[in-house]
Amino acid sequence: MELLLTVSRERPGTLSAQIQGQVRDAVRSGSLRAGTPVPSTRELAAQLGVSRKVAVDAYAQLAAEGYLALRQGAQPRVAAGPFVHPSAGSGPGSSDPIRYDFRPARPDVSSFPRAAWARCLRDAVTEITVDDLGYGDPFGTGTLRDTLADYLGRVRGVVATRDRVVVTNGYLQGLGLICRALAARGARRIACEQPGSPEEARIAARAGLEAVRVPVDELGLRVDRLAATRADAVVLTPAHQHPTGVVLAPARRTALIAWLRATGAIAVEDDYDAEYRYDRPAVGALQGLDQDHVVYAGTASKVLAPALRLGWMVLPSVLVRDVRTERLLLDQGTARIEQLAYAHFVRRGELDRHLRRMRLRYRRRRDAVIEALASSMPAARVRGIAAGLHVTVELPPSVDSAAVASAARANGIALATLADYGAPSPPTLILGYSQMTESRLRSGIRELATLVT
Ligand SMILES: Cc1ncc(COP(=O)(O)O)c(C=O)c1O
Repeated sequence: MELLLTVSRERPGTLSAQIQGQVRDAVRSGSLRAGTPVPSTRELAAQLGVSRKVAVDAYAQLAAEGYLALRQGAQPRVAAGPFVHPSAGSGPGSSDPIRYDFRPARPDVSSFPRAAWARCLRDAVTEITVDDLGYGDPFGTGTLRDTLADYLGRVRGVVATRDRVVVTNGYLQGLGLICRALAARGARRIACEQPGSPEEARIAARAGLEAVRVPVDELGLRVDRLAATRADAVVLTPAHQHPTGVVLAPARRTALIAWLRATGAIAVEDDYDAEYRYDRPAVGALQGLDQDHVVYAGTASKVLAPALRLGWMVLPSVLVRDVRTERLLLDQGTARIEQLAYAHFVRRGELDRHLRRMRLRYRRRRDAVIEALASSMPAARVRGIAAGLHVTVELPPSVDSAAVASAARANGIALATLADYGAPSPPTLILGYSQMTESRLRSGIRELATLVT
């Protein structure tokens, strides 16, 4: 088995870095598709004329970043992860189209409230002032920042005033802004959850920060491990850990706040899907406990649609000036007509209405998945709380989750595994349920069960 790679000592970068770079590019561009077998480290070393250690190091790094799925004694494969280029393999017109879409972290965009949004957008265009049609404050329009401060205080216990609210082009841009502002203030290291979103470490690295991983267990982030990292900041998902689905335990919240105060570190609270809790009201935001050390970050991507590219942050006052500088240099702010439309959407109660409708729908879908799992995959264990847009399904230790994911993809079933988020064990599937009806979910789980051996 051969892989189209070339390395040379004449080129910049170590041999291992060259292998890593080429495999990353090939996976991202879609030329290496999820599930594709790649040579063993022994075969690769022989093919390239490099030492085995070079190949082992490169594969270990690629596996840690979620590009490759490695398992003792099994052929290494390209992981079925979030890095896979959207057009790779699974899009319309490709040879293996998605029949069952269990991809996590996306809402049911087919339920986007088009008519209500169109009304808000039309009114925004009609009403926008001449002043607001200029560049304006890079943090956003006053109307939306006030609206968000009220809304977040009401539903999440966030303490905010307009001057601390920044409207962003989504959470991921917000995280990039925070990392650059922290780096400008001399920060060097940021702790991220393990497992956690693979993008975070890469965003931090672009800002010049080193990302260090801190494990997550049944009670959320291991706060006791933060001290040893000597991190200047930590990014976490306390209300519903992504992707395990656990909640940060009360004692850990207290310990985290104590660590932040003792060290002067900053926490970035990614509150990505707190609107979706099905068993009881969500725990309040961490930011409510400490406004001087916690950045609160939210997004419209899960409640409405990622296409809006709309997010927000509430900043500790110490970061306001540096984040404003970074925002001015980056893009001068988020589209202002859409900001006003979103302000209308919230103020008119459209968001609350939409969420009431969607919560009911997602809850039914989640219940359908849980029931189908209980009857078709009785050995599987569902982890995490009744919340969000996906279930985390732990499989018996003997199951190879990478093999399940690639067999699933070959059968038109798209899903993610815990390995895609940097944790190869225990074998765990991450199943998004937001995009299919209950009957499709049931038949999808039944088919999936036949592939879990
Ligand atoms: C953990 C997590 N937080 C937040 C987001 C939202 O990012 P954005 O607002 O940039 O769409 C995502 C996107 O998938 C995510 O997985």
